Amino acid sequence: MRTIVAYTSGTGFTKTYAEWIAEELGAELIRTEELTPEQITAADVIIHGGGIRASRIGGLRKFLRNWPELESKHIVLWHTGANPGHPETVEKVWKQNLTPEQLEATTRFYLRGGFDFSRLRGTDKLIMGVMRVVLKRRKHPSESDKGMLAMFDEPRTELDRTNITPLVEHVRSLQS
Ligand SMILES: Cc1cc2nc3c(=O)[nH]c(=O)nc-3n(C[C@H](O)[C@H](O)[C@H](O)COP(=O)(O)O)c2cc1C
Repeated sequence: MRTIVAYTSGTGFTKTYAEWIAEELGAELIRTEELTPEQITAADVIIHGGGIRASRIGGLRKFLRNWPELESKHIVLWHTGANPGHPETVEKVWKQNLTPEQLEATTRFYLRGGFDFSRLRGTDKLIMGVMRVVLKRRKHPSESDKGMLAMFDEPRTELDRTNITPLVEHVRSLQS
């Protein structure tokens, strides 16, 4: 089965997962913006991943513009974030990013990434810079505020190759 792994990544966490998944499955690796309808038509399984930015999954909207080509394929999605991935949090994000039809037609995973302030650019850097100042000024920071602030001082990575196992096994089950 011809498999494509497409991804959008700002600071490299999603990219690392995309590379691992493609390697594991012997799949073609493509950035979302380079993916063409012709490539989708020629594939059987399309896997897409993006990093989360305040409830929006990077690249997903662009990817879903190919829905006419996608809907007859096996579609597997993941998103990468800094949060620990509690099922309610993850499901809420999917519901915010997908229509009921798309929820029905896709299989979805969450792969925890991390946070690296030093690798942010442009608007992302600006937004998170403001957030850092706001958190620092809080007189009574919560535990979660403190946890967030610590991530600004030191890059945090939860990248772990074993996290891809459920996704990879799901795709293999489609292939067998
Ligand atoms: C502007 C901005 C907003 C973010 N919002 C969230 C969020 O809502 N939930 C979360 O878990 N992580 C959030 N993150 C963290 C990223 O999702 C996380 O660093 C992810 O691993 C980035 O993946 P990437 O390097 O592939 O872009 C945010 C990061 C930025 C820069």
